[in-house]
Amino acid sequence: RITSVRGRIVYNSRGSRTVEVDVISDGKFLGRACAPSGASVGIHEVRNFPDGGPEASLAAITGSAGRFKGLNPGDSGAVHAAVREMDDTPDYSIAGGASAFAITIAAAYSAAAAAGVPLYRVLDPNVEPRFPYPLGNVLGGGAHAGPGSPDIQEILVCATGLRDIREAIEANLAVHKELGLVLRKKDRLFAGGKGDEGGWAPRACSAEALEMAAEACENLGYALGKEVSLGVDFAASTQWDREKGAYSYSRDGFENSPGEQIDYAAGIIEKYKLIYAEDAVHEEEFDGMAELTRRFPGVLVAGDDLTVTSAAMLRKAVKKGSCNAAILKVNQAGSLYDAMKFAAEATAGGIRLVTSHRSGETTDAHVTHIGIATGSVMLKVGAVGGERVAKANELIRLSEQGLIHGMAGI
Ligand code: PGA
Ligand code: ZN
Repeated sequence: RITSVRGRIVYNSRGSRTVEVDVISDGKFLGRACAPSGASVGIHEVRNFPDGGPEASLAAITGSAGRFKGLNPGDSGAVHAAVREMDDTPDYSIAGGASAFAITIAAAYSAAAAAGVPLYRVLDPNVEPRFPYPLGNVLGGGAHAGPGSPDIQEILVCATGLRDIREAIEANLAVHKELGLVLRKKDRLFAGGKGDEGGWAPRACSAEALEMAAEACENLGYALGKEVSLGVDFAASTQWDREKGAYSYSRDGFENSPGEQIDYAAGIIEKYKLIYAEDAVHEEEFDGMAELTRRFPGVLVAGDDLTVTSAAMLRKAVKKGSCNAAILKVNQAGSLYDAMKFAAEATAGGIRLVTSHRSGETTDAHVTHIGIATGSVMLKVGAVGGERVAKANELIRLSEQGLIHGMAGI
Protein backbone atom coordinates (compact mmCIF):
# COMPACT_ATOMS: atom_id res chain seq x y z
CA ARG A 1 0.00 0.00 0.00
CA ILE A 2 1.17 3.52 -0.78
CA THR A 3 2.41 5.20 2.40
CA SER A 4 3.73 8.47 0.97
CA VAL A 5 3.82 10.64 -2.14
CA ARG A 6 6.27 13.49 -2.40
CA GLY A 7 7.17 15.81 -5.26
CA ARG A 8 10.15 18.06 -5.90
CA ILE A 9 11.41 20.39 -8.62
CA VAL A 10 14.43 19.10 -10.53
CA TYR A 11 15.87 19.77 -14.03
CA ASN A 12 15.52 18.17 -17.46
CA SER A 13 18.11 17.74 -20.22
CA ARG A 14 17.50 21.29 -21.48
CA GLY A 15 18.22 22.60 -17.99
CA SER A 16 14.56 23.56 -17.49
CA ARG A 17 12.57 22.99 -14.33
CA THR A 18 10.38 19.92 -14.12
CA VAL A 19 8.73 17.78 -11.45
CA GLU A 20 9.88 14.50 -9.96
CA VAL A 21 7.76 12.33 -7.69
CA ASP A 22 8.69 9.72 -5.06
CA VAL A 23 6.01 7.16 -4.23
CA ILE A 24 6.82 4.92 -1.25
CA SER A 25 4.88 1.77 -0.46
CA ASP A 26 4.88 -0.07 2.87
CA GLY A 27 7.29 2.55 4.17
CA LYS A 28 10.22 1.24 2.13
CA PHE A 29 9.57 0.47 -1.56
CA LEU A 30 10.59 3.58 -3.47
CA GLY A 31 9.30 4.36 -6.96
CA ARG A 32 10.65 7.54 -8.53
CA ALA A 33 9.76 9.23 -11.81
CA CYS A 34 10.66 12.56 -13.38
CA ALA A 35 8.60 14.22 -16.13
CA PRO A 36 10.07 15.14 -19.56
CA SER A 37 8.77 17.87 -21.92
CA GLY A 38 8.52 18.38 -25.66
CA ALA A 39 9.51 21.27 -27.95
CA SER A 40 7.42 20.39 -31.00
CA VAL A 41 4.19 19.87 -29.09
CA GLY A 42 0.98 18.70 -30.83
CA ILE A 43 -2.07 20.97 -30.50
CA HIS A 44 -4.12 18.14 -29.01
CA GLU A 45 -1.57 17.12 -26.36
CA VAL A 46 -2.52 17.70 -22.72
CA ARG A 47 -0.89 20.68 -21.00
CA ASN A 48 2.43 19.58 -19.56
CA PHE A 49 2.36 22.30 -16.90
CA PRO A 50 -0.55 24.51 -15.83
CA ASP A 51 -0.37 28.31 -15.72
CA GLY A 52 2.14 28.81 -12.93
CA GLY A 53 4.53 26.23 -14.38
CA PRO A 54 6.28 23.38 -12.55
CA GLU A 55 5.73 25.15 -9.20
CA ALA A 56 1.96 24.94 -9.70
CA SER A 57 2.30 21.25 -10.59
CA LEU A 58 4.32 20.66 -7.45
CA ALA A 59 1.71 22.48 -5.35
CA ALA A 60 -1.02 20.25 -6.83
CA ILE A 61 1.00 17.10 -6.04
CA THR A 62 1.70 18.24 -2.49
CA GLY A 63 -1.93 19.25 -1.94
CA SER A 64 -3.20 15.88 -3.19
CA ALA A 65 -0.60 13.56 -1.68
CA GLY A 66 -3.09 12.26 0.89
CA ARG A 67 -5.44 10.93 -1.82
CA PHE A 68 -2.95 8.24 -2.79
CA LYS A 69 -2.31 6.85 0.68
CA GLY A 70 -3.57 3.31 1.15
CA LEU A 71 -3.91 2.60 -2.58
CA ASN A 72 -2.30 -0.46 -4.14
CA PRO A 73 0.54 1.11 -6.19
CA GLY A 74 0.16 -1.57 -8.87
CA ASP A 75 -3.54 -0.81 -9.37
CA SER A 76 -3.14 1.66 -12.22
CA GLY A 77 -6.91 2.27 -12.41
CA ALA A 78 -7.12 3.30 -8.75
CA VAL A 79 -4.02 5.52 -8.97
CA HIS A 80 -5.41 7.11 -12.14
CA ALA A 81 -8.77 7.74 -10.43
CA ALA A 82 -6.99 9.56 -7.61
CA VAL A 83 -5.05 11.61 -10.19
CA ARG A 84 -8.41 12.50 -11.75
CA GLU A 85 -9.66 13.71 -8.34
CA MET A 86 -6.62 15.98 -8.26
CA ASP A 87 -7.33 17.28 -11.79
CA ASP A 88 -10.51 16.37 -13.67
CA THR A 89 -9.96 18.71 -16.64
CA PRO A 90 -9.61 16.99 -20.05
CA ASP A 91 -6.22 18.62 -20.71
CA TYR A 92 -4.80 18.48 -17.16
CA SER A 93 -4.86 22.26 -16.93
CA ILE A 94 -4.92 22.31 -13.09
CA ALA A 95 -2.04 20.00 -12.17
CA GLY A 96 -0.37 19.53 -15.57
CA GLY A 97 0.20 16.28 -17.43
CA ALA A 98 3.69 16.26 -15.90
CA SER A 99 2.20 15.55 -12.44
CA ALA A 100 -0.11 12.83 -13.76
CA PHE A 101 2.88 11.34 -15.58
CA ALA A 102 5.25 11.39 -12.61
CA ILE A 103 2.75 10.11 -10.02
CA THR A 104 1.43 7.22 -12.12
CA ILE A 105 4.86 6.03 -13.25
CA ALA A 106 6.38 6.39 -9.76
CA ALA A 107 3.50 4.32 -8.34
CA ALA A 108 4.10 1.55 -10.90
CA TYR A 109 7.81 1.59 -10.07
CA SER A 110 7.01 1.30 -6.37
CA ALA A 111 4.82 -1.73 -7.13
CA ALA A 112 7.66 -3.27 -9.14
CA ALA A 113 10.10 -2.70 -6.27
CA ALA A 114 7.67 -4.29 -3.79
CA ALA A 115 7.11 -7.33 -6.03
CA GLY A 116 10.79 -7.62 -7.02
CA VAL A 117 9.95 -7.68 -10.74
CA PRO A 118 10.95 -5.42 -13.64
CA LEU A 119 8.62 -2.48 -14.29
CA TYR A 120 7.37 -3.90 -17.60
CA ARG A 121 5.88 -6.87 -15.69
CA VAL A 122 3.78 -4.56 -13.52
CA LEU A 123 2.57 -2.68 -16.61
CA ASP A 124 1.51 -5.91 -18.33
CA PRO A 125 1.87 -9.13 -16.33
CA ASN A 126 0.99 -11.20 -19.42
CA VAL A 127 3.28 -9.61 -21.96
CA GLU A 128 5.58 -11.87 -23.98
CA PRO A 129 8.51 -9.50 -23.83
CA ARG A 130 10.57 -8.66 -26.91
CA PHE A 131 13.19 -6.00 -27.51
CA PRO A 132 11.92 -3.03 -29.49
CA TYR A 133 14.41 -1.83 -32.12
CA PRO A 134 16.15 1.34 -30.94
CA LEU A 135 15.40 4.22 -33.30
CA GLY A 136 18.27 6.67 -32.92
CA ASN A 137 18.40 10.36 -33.78
CA VAL A 138 21.66 11.00 -35.67
CA LEU A 139 20.92 14.48 -37.06
CA GLY A 140 18.67 17.17 -35.64
CA GLY A 141 17.08 20.29 -37.10
CA GLY A 142 13.76 22.14 -36.91
CA ALA A 143 12.53 22.88 -33.39
CA HIS A 144 15.41 20.87 -31.87
CA ALA A 145 18.35 22.87 -33.24
CA GLY A 146 19.46 26.35 -34.31
CA PRO A 147 18.27 28.34 -37.35
CA GLY A 148 21.17 27.24 -39.60
CA SER A 149 20.21 23.57 -39.26
CA PRO A 150 17.89 21.64 -41.63
CA ASP A 151 14.12 22.28 -41.54
CA ILE A 152 13.48 18.55 -41.15
CA GLN A 153 13.43 17.85 -37.42
CA GLU A 154 15.08 14.44 -37.16
CA ILE A 155 17.05 11.99 -39.26
CA LEU A 156 16.95 8.60 -37.55
CA VAL A 157 18.58 5.21 -37.92
CA CYS A 158 17.23 1.79 -37.04
CA ALA A 159 19.09 -1.51 -37.45
CA THR A 160 16.03 -3.54 -38.40
CA GLY A 161 18.19 -6.09 -40.21
CA LEU A 162 20.07 -7.10 -37.04
CA ARG A 163 18.78 -9.68 -34.59
CA ASP A 164 20.64 -8.84 -31.40
CA ILE A 165 19.85 -5.92 -29.11
CA ARG A 166 23.46 -4.97 -28.42
CA GLU A 167 24.30 -5.07 -32.14
CA ALA A 168 21.25 -2.94 -32.91
CA ILE A 169 22.28 -0.32 -30.34
CA GLU A 170 25.91 -0.33 -31.50
CA ALA A 171 24.93 0.09 -35.16
CA ASN A 172 23.06 3.30 -34.27
CA LEU A 173 26.04 4.58 -32.30
CA ALA A 174 28.44 3.72 -35.12
CA VAL A 175 26.32 5.66 -37.64
CA HIS A 176 26.19 8.64 -35.26
CA LYS A 177 30.00 8.61 -34.94
CA GLU A 178 30.61 8.13 -38.66
CA LEU A 179 28.18 10.92 -39.51
CA GLY A 180 30.23 13.24 -37.28
CA LEU A 181 33.29 12.45 -39.43
CA VAL A 182 31.34 12.94 -42.68
CA LEU A 183 30.11 16.33 -41.45
CA ARG A 184 33.64 17.41 -40.55
CA LYS A 185 34.90 16.39 -43.98
CA LYS A 186 32.15 18.40 -45.71
CA ASP A 187 32.54 21.50 -43.56
CA ARG A 188 35.87 22.10 -41.91
CA LEU A 189 34.22 24.73 -39.71
CA PHE A 190 31.66 22.24 -38.32
CA ALA A 191 32.04 22.71 -34.57
CA GLY A 192 30.36 19.45 -33.49
CA GLY A 193 27.15 21.07 -32.26
CA LYS A 194 24.19 18.84 -31.43
CA GLY A 195 20.43 19.30 -31.23
CA ASP A 196 18.27 18.71 -28.17
CA GLU A 197 18.14 14.95 -28.72
CA GLY A 198 21.88 14.45 -29.31
CA GLY A 199 21.75 14.28 -33.12
CA TRP A 200 24.37 16.42 -34.91
CA ALA A 201 23.09 19.88 -35.83
CA PRO A 202 25.10 20.94 -38.90
CA ARG A 203 24.75 24.05 -41.00
CA ALA A 204 23.10 22.27 -43.91
CA CYS A 205 19.77 22.03 -45.72
CA SER A 206 17.53 18.98 -45.40
CA ALA A 207 18.65 17.48 -48.74
CA GLU A 208 22.35 17.72 -47.81
CA ALA A 209 21.64 16.30 -44.35
CA LEU A 210 19.89 13.25 -45.81
CA GLU A 211 22.74 12.67 -48.28
CA MET A 212 25.34 12.80 -45.51
CA ALA A 213 23.35 10.43 -43.26
CA ALA A 214 23.10 7.95 -46.13
CA GLU A 215 26.83 8.34 -46.82
CA ALA A 216 27.63 7.56 -43.16
CA CYS A 217 25.65 4.30 -43.34
CA GLU A 218 27.32 3.32 -46.62
CA ASN A 219 30.81 4.11 -45.28
CA LEU A 220 30.17 1.53 -42.58
CA GLY A 221 29.22 -1.07 -45.17
CA TYR A 222 25.51 -0.98 -44.39
CA ALA A 223 23.21 -1.23 -47.38
CA LEU A 224 20.28 1.11 -46.76
CA GLY A 225 17.11 -0.82 -46.18
CA LYS A 226 19.04 -4.00 -45.29
CA GLU A 227 21.01 -4.08 -42.02
CA VAL A 228 20.32 -0.46 -41.20
CA SER A 229 17.58 1.83 -42.45
CA LEU A 230 17.02 5.54 -42.24
CA GLY A 231 13.91 7.20 -40.83
CA VAL A 232 12.70 10.79 -40.76
CA ASP A 233 10.52 12.73 -38.36
CA PHE A 234 9.33 15.54 -40.64
CA ALA A 235 7.43 17.16 -37.74
CA ALA A 236 5.60 18.87 -40.62
CA SER A 237 3.32 20.88 -38.31
CA THR A 238 6.33 23.04 -37.53
CA GLN A 239 6.67 23.93 -41.24
CA TRP A 240 2.94 24.34 -41.82
CA ASP A 241 1.85 27.94 -42.28
CA ARG A 242 -1.90 27.93 -41.83
CA GLU A 243 -2.37 31.44 -43.24
CA LYS A 244 -0.46 30.70 -46.43
CA GLY A 245 -1.90 27.20 -46.65
CA ALA A 246 1.62 25.95 -47.41
CA TYR A 247 4.64 24.33 -45.81
CA SER A 248 7.43 26.84 -45.47
CA TYR A 249 10.99 25.47 -45.49
CA SER A 250 12.66 28.71 -44.52
CA ARG A 251 16.16 27.26 -44.02
CA ASP A 252 16.00 25.08 -47.10
CA GLY A 253 14.53 27.95 -49.13
CA PHE A 254 11.35 26.55 -50.65
CA GLU A 255 7.64 26.20 -50.03
CA ASN A 256 5.39 23.18 -50.57
CA SER A 257 1.68 23.23 -51.30
CA PRO A 258 -0.21 20.43 -49.46
CA GLY A 259 0.04 18.25 -52.58
CA GLU A 260 3.73 19.03 -53.08
CA GLN A 261 4.42 18.13 -49.45
CA ILE A 262 3.08 14.62 -50.02
CA ASP A 263 5.27 14.22 -53.13
CA TYR A 264 8.25 15.69 -51.25
CA ALA A 265 7.88 13.16 -48.42
CA ALA A 266 7.22 10.30 -50.86
CA GLY A 267 10.38 11.25 -52.81
CA ILE A 268 12.48 11.06 -49.63
CA ILE A 269 10.90 7.76 -48.55
CA GLU A 270 11.74 6.24 -51.95
CA LYS A 271 15.19 7.74 -52.49
CA TYR A 272 16.53 6.77 -49.06
CA LYS A 273 14.50 3.56 -48.68
CA LEU A 274 13.14 4.82 -45.35
CA ILE A 275 11.76 2.27 -42.89
CA TYR A 276 10.12 5.01 -40.85
CA ALA A 277 8.35 8.30 -41.72
CA GLU A 278 6.72 10.36 -38.95
CA ASP A 279 4.34 13.32 -39.27
CA ALA A 280 5.11 13.80 -42.97
CA VAL A 281 2.20 16.24 -43.23
CA HIS A 282 0.72 18.55 -40.61
CA GLU A 283 -1.25 17.31 -37.64
CA GLU A 284 -4.75 17.92 -39.02
CA GLU A 285 -4.06 16.39 -42.44
CA PHE A 286 -5.53 12.93 -41.85
CA ASP A 287 -6.18 12.49 -45.58
CA GLY A 288 -2.64 13.33 -46.68
CA MET A 289 -1.30 10.86 -44.12
CA ALA A 290 -3.75 8.27 -45.48
CA GLU A 291 -2.37 8.73 -48.99
CA LEU A 292 1.18 8.06 -47.80
CA THR A 293 0.04 5.07 -45.73
CA ARG A 294 -1.60 3.58 -48.84
CA ARG A 295 1.44 4.25 -51.01
CA PHE A 296 3.99 2.79 -48.60
CA PRO A 297 2.63 -0.32 -46.89
CA GLY A 298 6.18 -1.55 -46.17
CA VAL A 299 7.17 1.63 -44.31
CA LEU A 300 6.15 2.58 -40.79
CA VAL A 301 4.07 5.66 -41.58
CA ALA A 302 3.75 7.05 -38.08
CA GLY A 303 1.64 9.65 -36.34
CA ASP A 304 3.00 11.70 -33.47
CA ASP A 305 1.45 15.19 -33.48
CA LEU A 306 -1.32 13.51 -35.51
CA THR A 307 -2.32 10.96 -32.87
CA VAL A 308 -0.90 12.56 -29.65
CA THR A 309 -1.22 9.32 -27.62
CA SER A 310 -4.98 9.91 -27.56
CA ALA A 311 -7.29 6.93 -28.02
CA ALA A 312 -9.88 9.23 -29.63
CA MET A 313 -7.43 10.68 -32.18
CA LEU A 314 -6.14 7.20 -32.92
CA ARG A 315 -9.66 5.93 -33.61
CA LYS A 316 -10.05 8.73 -36.16
CA ALA A 317 -6.68 7.85 -37.74
CA VAL A 318 -7.59 4.15 -37.95
CA LYS A 319 -10.95 4.95 -39.53
CA LYS A 320 -9.30 7.11 -42.19
CA GLY A 321 -6.27 4.82 -42.65
CA SER A 322 -3.99 7.73 -41.75
CA CYS A 323 -1.10 5.72 -40.32
CA ASN A 324 0.10 2.18 -39.75
CA ALA A 325 2.26 3.15 -36.74
CA ALA A 326 1.91 5.58 -33.86
CA ILE A 327 4.19 7.24 -31.37
CA LEU A 328 3.42 6.63 -27.69
CA LYS A 329 4.54 9.43 -25.37
CA VAL A 330 2.99 9.11 -21.95
CA ASN A 331 3.04 12.84 -21.28
CA GLN A 332 1.04 13.62 -24.42
CA ALA A 333 -1.79 11.70 -22.75
CA GLY A 334 -1.06 12.63 -19.12
CA SER A 335 -1.22 9.53 -16.97
CA LEU A 336 0.30 6.14 -17.63
CA TYR A 337 -3.22 4.69 -17.48
CA ASP A 338 -4.34 6.90 -20.40
CA ALA A 339 -1.26 5.89 -22.37
CA MET A 340 -1.80 2.17 -21.77
CA LYS A 341 -5.40 2.56 -22.99
CA PHE A 342 -4.02 4.16 -26.14
CA ALA A 343 -1.62 1.23 -26.56
CA ALA A 344 -4.45 -1.29 -26.25
CA GLU A 345 -6.47 0.64 -28.84
CA ALA A 346 -3.47 0.71 -31.22
CA THR A 347 -2.86 -3.02 -30.87
CA ALA A 348 -6.54 -3.77 -31.48
CA GLY A 349 -6.50 -1.52 -34.57
CA GLY A 350 -3.39 -3.15 -36.07
CA ILE A 351 -1.27 -0.03 -35.50
CA ARG A 352 2.38 -0.66 -34.60
CA LEU A 353 3.62 1.25 -31.58
CA VAL A 354 6.80 3.28 -31.25
CA THR A 355 7.39 4.32 -27.64
CA SER A 356 9.24 7.60 -27.49
CA HIS A 357 11.26 10.00 -25.35
CA ARG A 358 10.77 13.79 -25.49
CA SER A 359 13.36 16.35 -26.57
CA GLY A 360 13.55 17.69 -22.99
CA GLU A 361 14.30 14.36 -21.27
CA THR A 362 15.31 13.01 -17.89
CA THR A 363 17.81 10.29 -17.04
CA ASP A 364 15.00 7.88 -16.10
CA ALA A 365 14.64 4.71 -18.16
CA HIS A 366 10.93 3.98 -17.75
CA VAL A 367 10.25 4.44 -21.50
CA THR A 368 12.31 1.31 -22.08
CA HIS A 369 9.89 -0.70 -19.90
CA ILE A 370 6.82 0.98 -21.38
CA GLY A 371 8.10 0.08 -24.85
CA ILE A 372 8.48 -3.57 -23.86
CA ALA A 373 5.16 -3.76 -21.99
CA THR A 374 3.22 -2.31 -24.91
CA GLY A 375 4.84 -4.62 -27.48
CA SER A 376 6.32 -1.60 -29.27
CA VAL A 377 8.28 -2.45 -32.39
CA MET A 378 10.64 0.50 -31.95
CA LEU A 379 11.94 2.55 -29.06
CA LYS A 380 12.59 6.14 -30.15
CA VAL A 381 15.10 7.24 -27.56
CA GLY A 382 17.90 9.06 -29.40
CA ALA A 383 21.41 7.75 -29.76
CA VAL A 384 23.91 9.72 -27.69
CA GLY A 385 23.73 11.94 -24.60
CA GLY A 386 23.41 10.69 -21.01
CA GLU A 387 19.63 10.98 -20.94
CA ARG A 388 19.42 9.06 -24.26
CA VAL A 389 21.89 6.23 -23.58
CA ALA A 390 20.16 5.70 -20.22
CA LYS A 391 17.33 4.05 -22.16
CA ALA A 392 19.65 1.89 -24.30
CA ASN A 393 21.65 0.87 -21.24
CA GLU A 394 18.44 -0.33 -19.59
CA LEU A 395 17.86 -2.61 -22.61
CA ILE A 396 21.33 -4.09 -22.04
CA ARG A 397 20.64 -4.67 -18.32
CA LEU A 398 17.34 -6.36 -19.14
CA SER A 399 19.08 -8.59 -21.70
CA GLU A 400 21.21 -10.07 -18.88
CA GLN A 401 18.15 -11.50 -17.15
CA GLY A 402 17.41 -13.77 -20.12
CA LEU A 403 13.66 -13.14 -19.80
CA ILE A 404 13.22 -11.31 -23.10
CA HIS A 405 12.99 -13.49 -26.15
CA GLY A 406 14.45 -11.81 -29.21
CA MET A 407 13.69 -8.68 -31.14
CA ALA A 408 10.24 -7.34 -31.98
CA GLY A 409 8.84 -8.35 -35.37
CA ILE A 410 8.50 -5.23 -37.50
P1 PGA B 1 9.31 16.87 -28.81
O1 PGA B 1 9.68 16.23 -30.22
O2 PGA B 1 9.64 15.95 -27.73
O3 PGA B 1 10.15 18.11 -28.87
O4 PGA B 1 7.84 17.18 -28.91
C1 PGA B 1 9.87 14.92 -30.48
C2 PGA B 1 9.10 14.53 -31.70
O5 PGA B 1 8.49 15.36 -32.39
O6 PGA B 1 9.07 13.33 -32.00
ZN1 ZN C 1 7.63 13.71 -33.76
